Amino acid sequence: MQAEPIRVLVTGAAGQIAYSLLYSIAKGDVFGKDQPIILVLLDIPPMLPVLDGVVMELQDCALPLLREVIPTDKVEVGFKDLDAAILVGSMPRKEGMERKDLLKANVAIFKTQGAALDKYAKKTVKVKEPAEKRKKQPREAFTAQTFLTFNDSAAVSVPHPQVAMRCGVSSDKVKNVIIWGNHSSTQYPDVHHAKVNVHGSETAAYDAVKDEAWLRGDFISTVQLRGAAVIKARKLSSAMSAAKAICDHMRDIWFGTKEGEFISMGVYAGGNSYGIPEDLIYSFPVQIKNKTWKVFDGLPINDFSRAKMDATAAELVEERDTAMDFLSQ
Ligand SMILES: NC(=O)c1ccc[n+]([C@@H]2O[C@H](COP(=O)([O-])OP(=O)(O)OC[C@H]3O[C@@H](n4cnc5c(N)ncnc54)[C@H](O)[C@@H]3O)[C@@H](O)[C@H]2O)c1
Repeated sequence: MQAEPIRVLVTGAAGQIAYSLLYSIAKGDVFGKDQPIILVLLDIPPMLPVLDGVVMELQDCALPLLREVIPTDKVEVGFKDLDAAILVGSMPRKEGMERKDLLKANVAIFKTQGAALDKYAKKTVKVKEPAEKRKKQPREAFTAQTFLTFNDSAAVSVPHPQVAMRCGVSSDKVKNVIIWGNHSSTQYPDVHHAKVNVHGSETAAYDAVKDEAWLRGDFISTVQLRGAAVIKARKLSSAMSAAKAICDHMRDIWFGTKEGEFISMGVYAGGNSYGIPEDLIYSFPVQIKNKTWKVFDGLPINDFSRAKMDATAAELVEERDTAMDFLSQ
């Protein structure tokens, strides 16, 4: 017998990331090939005509798992009885816009959506955000920083293929590269704990790559600046890879991480063993079991990594304080 349909919200559903994301979700890439889905598409009122087009296309895809598509511009409809929520919708940065102005606009959006999640969603809702822990943290911290943490999805798609290409293997042969910190040019991709499967034997990434200068130099800057490089080339921000990374993250939240592997995810830092300020949302290595994440503790950190982890934490502290200022206005 087939399972009952689950209700999944995607916000920013008329946008370019959602355009790739919705197809992957509706064909079973995220919640499994035997899990029927009701897709709820939330966007702002001027985008409703575009949403209609997206609904038509989803219907025309003739996907057997897709039971219903509900387009809406109302949070009380969008967030009602959810099993999972993927919050993509936000104000994109426009030319000449200060990071601070962008933060202000998005703080307002996530404040509203955080409150709507609490009010209308099922209490077991899984959010592609570190929302499982949101009850244990100050509400403001969750609502103010969620849009930053969504962004880590796009970042984590970059490093594994980079290492894989360097070693001449496919990207599934590389595991446990960590992204620490913010999603910005201070993020720190760390290969010290990563493994590469070369001809069937698991090798430390440093030994497999055999190029320390690259690993400590161009590799890091390529990952840090990838978003900007895609915008420069495409004249649009990354969407296909961002959608794929969001799908991977949501699937890991739903089904758990593989044995012996961790993934990087922006989560609440409370109780971490890495000396990161406790009230930040920070990207850590995490393992997920029974739909609950846990920071993978106890990895040894050398001086090179320490400095980079602290630099990205300092930037997040500054952004957190700015967001808190906006929230209290
Ligand atoms: N981390 C990354 O590498 C990365 C990559 C690409 C995009 N992004 C960010 O992800 C976000 C989405 O990207 P995109 O390319 O799909 O942008 P987009 O502009 O194509 O789509 C965003 C959608 O969100 C909608 N939206 C705005 N406010 C909303 C609200 N309050 N409720 C619901 N929907 C709302 C917009 O109307 C729009 O349809 C942007 O903020 C973008 O900056 C991050």
